[in-house]
Amino acid sequence: MKSAVILISGRGSNMRSLVDGRTGLDIRAVISNRPEAGGLEWARGRGIPTAVVDHQRFPGRESFDAALADAVGDAEVVLLAGFMRILTPGFIRRFERRMLNIHPSLLPSFPGLHTHRRALEAGVKVHGCTVHFVTPELDNGPIVIQAAVPVLAGDTEDALAARVLEAEHRIYPQAARWLAQGRLELSPTGGVHVRDAAPGTGCLLSPPEER
Ligand code: GRF
Repeated sequence: MKSAVILISGRGSNMRSLVDGRTGLDIRAVISNRPEAGGLEWARGRGIPTAVVDHQRFPGRESFDAALADAVGDAEVVLLAGFMRILTPGFIRRFERRMLNIHPSLLPSFPGLHTHRRALEAGVKVHGCTVHFVTPELDNGPIVIQAAVPVLAGDTEDALAARVLEAEHRIYPQAARWLAQGRLELSPTGGVHVRDAAPGTGCLLSPPEER
């Protein structure tokens, strides 16, 4: 079984979906950069070791990432689950092809923050979420799986976020399971192929709207 750590910054609902999602990974620890992250308490309640590496206590990114690397130790897989810090290229390279992130948009649309607000402002009809390998360029690594959800008339940012979050909780454990099984292969063109999977694997569409 591959060992993994989950990095969080907040409530940790994606972390919960990973812990409960039978990924086949041995979740060794949950690490937060914020001492007040709600997800820490939940993890402790589950008997999962937790650690805080508070970014505010470090003079810069390099020293923070060095402490974070110490906390991660020799874990084979790193799962970013609502982890809101930009990591240094050195840290990222160390976990190349072993670190996943979940992003609340259909990348490459809407990288960065406030994705739901920006999707509503752009008037898109389809929104969603993406699990991707982490590379030094923000929200730009090879895409493992995406789920699309409709944007409905009258949607607020919160309503849309809740619909996307539900999809996040479905796709992240799936992506982690494939990684655990060693089935994720990078294609020369930059995409990710899931070995021994049917065509279309990695694309989740919510049921079509009634007409
Ligand atoms: C999720 O929408 C995630 O995609 C984004 O931040 C949110 C974190 O939520 N990066 P949670 O902490 O996993 O509940």
